[in-house]
Amino acid sequence: MVEKINIKESYENKSDLYAELLPQLKSLISSEEDLIANLANVSAVLKAELKYLWVGFYIVKDDQLVLGPFQGPLACTRIDLGKGVCGAAWEKNKTIIVDDVDQFPGHIACSSESRSEIVVPIRKNREVLLVLDVDSSRLSDFDSTDQSFLEDVAKLIEEKLK
Ligand code: SME
Repeated sequence: MVEKINIKESYENKSDLYAELLPQLKSLISSEEDLIANLANVSAVLKAELKYLWVGFYIVKDDQLVLGPFQGPLACTRIDLGKGVCGAAWEKNKTIIVDDVDQFPGHIACSSESRSEIVVPIRKNREVLLVLDVDSSRLSDFDSTDQSFLEDVAKLIEEKLK
């Protein structure tokens, strides 16, 4: 496991940052098999390096999403299927980007600072087992570059799922 994430102080664009971060995340979780330990470290690195408001995971348990490891302001602990952005991504089994959370019907406002959001499903045999949720305090803060990177992060975690 890497002990330290090595990235530059600044990048010309976020693709370059993501390209350097992804192999380090892979290395970070390579030698640890405990899911919660890996989710905790991945959320810590993403929060520190991406500077978003909230980064974390919700885990499917007993027909609900239950709060898992995260970094950022406190969050709601349980989300039903189809509810909020997380529950919608779980139900639809696809990544959802919300440019303005106030315009998303049923958005669950854990933090009043959140303005935009992306939720990426993490699957085993096509079944969603958890979701990666990232919130930003800026409107329209997520694009296809973020989606591609976060889906790659999701794949790293999928590879570790037993
Ligand atoms: N906003 C999410 C709830 C989780 S928090 O953002 C951490 C939603 O609508 O599902």
